Amino acid sequence: MPSAASLAQPAGDLANRRMDPSKVAYQRPQPAGMVPDIFFGGGLSLAEDDRHWVPQAKDVWFKPLVLNVTQGFYVNILKVRKAGVLSRHRHFGPVHAFTLKGSWHYLEHDWVANEGDYVFEPPGETHTLVVPEGAEGMITLFHVTGGYSYVDPQGAALGYEDVFTKLEAARRHFAEQGLGEDYVDRFVR
Ligand SMILES: [Fe+2]
Repeated sequence: MPSAASLAQPAGDLANRRMDPSKVAYQRPQPAGMVPDIFFGGGLSLAEDDRHWVPQAKDVWFKPLVLNVTQGFYVNILKVRKAGVLSRHRHFGPVHAFTLKGSWHYLEHDWVANEGDYVFEPPGETHTLVVPEGAEGMITLFHVTGGYSYVDPQGAALGYEDVFTKLEAARRHFAEQGLGEDYVDRFVR
């Protein structure tokens, strides 16, 4: 016979107690101050007509996944549709790169990143990005912390890129695409 106490339990709680605890969702509130998560369905979609591709230079686009202005990093997919030297730059933070399509390399290293390859770029490194002739370009997911300076061969600074320049370019592009001035905010944390 069930006790009076167990009869008083709410039905949902009883059901939970019968369940394997490993299958029960976390029951407590998330911590105060936590920022919202991001879900971007089709975030890895490489479709040409995707309005999420922000022009960066001729035949170069990026698609933001996270623009983290509080920790100074961003995650984006870079798409390059031409062969040649893209840029020489010096990093101020670490970079993780996952090659999704095509191939690319740096003049300063003897490896070539192809589809499925991972690269760690250490903070402080200066390198020159090249997409080789004969390749169909490249598409690579980059997690970039701290940004980088464009430099000449002697290291003199020519310009810079960071989460804020990415955010500004994305905001402008999404507004031009008719998605609205605030559309980019879904990627900002
Ligand atoms: Fe780099």
